[in-house]
Amino acid sequence: MGRLTKTAYTLGILFFLISCSFAVFYGHKIFTHDLPKAKKIVEKGRYHFVLVTEEMDNEYWRLVEKGAKAAAKKYGVILEYVGPKQANIDEHLKTIEMAAASKVDGIMTQGLSNKQFTPLINHVVLSYGIPVITVDTDTTNSHRIAYIGTDNYHAGYLAGKALIADTKGKANVAIITGNFYANHMIQRVQGFKDAIKNVKGIHIVAIEESHISRIRAAEKAYQILQEHPEVNAFYGTSALDGISIAKVVELKKREKDMYIIGFDVLPETIANIRKGIINATVVQHPYEMGYGSVKMMVELMEKKHIPSIVHTGTQVIRKKDLSDLHPNRMGAGKNNAIPN
Ligand code: BGC
Repeated sequence: MGRLTKTAYTLGILFFLISCSFAVFYGHKIFTHDLPKAKKIVEKGRYHFVLVTEEMDNEYWRLVEKGAKAAAKKYGVILEYVGPKQANIDEHLKTIEMAAASKVDGIMTQGLSNKQFTPLINHVVLSYGIPVITVDTDTTNSHRIAYIGTDNYHAGYLAGKALIADTKGKANVAIITGNFYANHMIQRVQGFKDAIKNVKGIHIVAIEESHISRIRAAEKAYQILQEHPEVNAFYGTSALDGISIAKVVELKKREKDMYIIGFDVLPETIANIRKGIINATVVQHPYEMGYGSVKMMVELMEKKHIPSIVHTGTQVIRKKDLSDLHPNRMGAGKNNAIPN
């Protein structure tokens, strides 16, 4: 073999080896669906968990994240917070799939609907062997290990009872709910309906979906007021609904004769309660849900027994109760300790 041929031969082999390593590297990346930060951080923590939410930048979910991160810090866990930028069921499901494919130790997410979430959760638990804890919304018919969050039926029931008390049993009600397919929304509406069912003076006139969007909620509220001027009460069943209803009611100058009950205690909700536009709201404990889900997952890793359902508590608050709000648990009484 001549010198030139030898060099060309060596270069050829070298080139071949480099291409191979690129192919292996990128091929691996494609097939494992690495979550963005997963690789570098996994060595530093005891376990690697992922919290997949319905809408990442939603202030309600940021509180769940805050609680989860606090627990992750305490227990030395790597926690990733991921999900669609704007609520989108397909993206939500895909993100859960990606978390499973990147072989994390545990996944926390909502069990939003039985139809789409149950088969996926079952696949993650049974095929990948990754435990799933549902947070905020449950799919009781799945193989999720546990649920932590509001008792959504009871929360809806409390909303109904509050509306009866505050309107003295006389109201034409319009409901704006997150999604017709979502388990917790269905329960919040059902609980409400059951609470008012024997009260003759209360009628549900309309029910619409907001798709967890402020704009859609406002559009629906506007449309309802155009089509049903007799409506004098609104019930908003997800965090942004009440806020959007309040905007439209103000715009239409109906604040005086309109009763509004919403969900959650986001800063805008509180501001509206202070102004007297939102009359009451159902408190949830998102911080505690996040914190508790990580704590439970750690206990599970350590083979400890964990309860299959943990309800984080709920109550209705009005203007007079605002001074009791805790910034993290949003609505828990001052004396309730934050979990540690
Ligand atoms: C619900 C969440 C939902 C959020 C939307 C809350 O009341 O519990 O599931 O994502 O509202 O803004």
